Amino acid sequence: MNRKEIILKHVIKNGRGIEVGSSHNPIAPKKAGYNVQIIDHLDKSSLIDKYKDHGVNIANIEDVDFIWNGESYSDLTGRTNFYDWIIASHVIEHTTDLIGFLNDCSNLLNENGILSLAIPDKRYCFDHFRPVSGLSRIIDNHLNNQKIHSAGAVIEYFLNATSKDGKIAWNSSTTVNPQFSCVHNLDDAKQALNNIINNQQFYDIHEWCFTPTHTLLILQDLLNLELINLHIIEHTPTIGHEFFITLSKIKTTPQVERHNLLKQCKKEAWSF
Ligand SMILES: C[S@@+](CC[C@H](N)C(=O)[O-])C[C@H]1O[C@@H](n2cnc3c(N)ncnc32)[C@H](O)[C@@H]1O
Repeated sequence: MNRKEIILKHVIKNGRGIEVGSSHNPIAPKKAGYNVQIIDHLDKSSLIDKYKDHGVNIANIEDVDFIWNGESYSDLTGRTNFYDWIIASHVIEHTTDLIGFLNDCSNLLNENGILSLAIPDKRYCFDHFRPVSGLSRIIDNHLNNQKIHSAGAVIEYFLNATSKDGKIAWNSSTTVNPQFSCVHNLDDAKQALNNIINNQQFYDIHEWCFTPTHTLLILQDLLNLELINLHIIEHTPTIGHEFFITLSKIKTTPQVERHNLLKQCKKEAWSF
C-alpha cells in the first residue's frame, strides 16, 4: 500500500469527513469526490502565500471551511459526535496542545469514527538532532491550555532544525559522510524570541518530535491516564520519513505491555 492508501484505509468516501491541515497536499480532496471539510489555522489565500515559494503545487490548496483560532473544534464546526473520519497528515507534531487536539478530534467523531494520522519520524527529518518529546511537556501544555508555541519551544526548533545533504526529509538508508546543516541561524532565533515575548506571535513549528513506538507508548499512556479516549486500532512502522497511526473510540486490539514498549523505544532511539 502507498501512503495515501494507508491513510485512507478506514475512510468511507461518502462518509462525513474532516481533513485538518490538508494544505497543498490533501489526502481526500473535494475534487476527488470526498465528502470533506477542511480545518486549518490559515485561510486559503494565506496558505497560498505561505507555500508559494516552497516548490509545491499550490493549485492543490483547498478552500478552508473552518479557520481555527484556538477554540474547540466542536465550537468551530458546530458539531459533536458527527463525523465518520478525520485525517491529519503531518499536523499533530505542529499542535501546541496535543491532548487538546486529540480530544477535539474525538468530540467531532461519531461512535464508530476514526482519526487517521500520518506523522513524520523525527529520525529522518529536520528534527533529527532533537530528543523525542516526553509526557511532561505534553501534559503540562495541555494543563496550561497552550495556544501558541512557547518561546522555549520555538527556540529549540529554530536552533536544532537541520537538513541532511540539502534535504529536510530523508529515509532510513545510510549515506556516506552525510552533510548536516542548520536550517535557521541565530538571528532567526533571536528575532523569534523577541516577537514571542513582545507580541505573542504565533510561529508554526514542530512542537513535538516522534518516533513510531514512542508515539504508541505516549498514546497508550495518555489513554490509561484518562487524558484521551482514543484507542490505537492500527499502526505501521516508518515508511520513508513517516509512519501512520489510526485511532478510534472503540477498542479493537489489546494493549502492549508498557515495559515491552519501553524496550522497543530504547532500540528505536539508537537505530539511526
Ligand atoms: C506541514 S503542513 C501538512 C500539509 C499536508 N497535510 C501534508 O501532509 O503535507 C501542516 C498544516 O497544518 C496546519 N496546521 C498546523 N497546526 C494546526 C492546528 N493546530 N490546527 C489546524 N491546522 C493546523 C498548517 O497551516 C498546515 O496547513
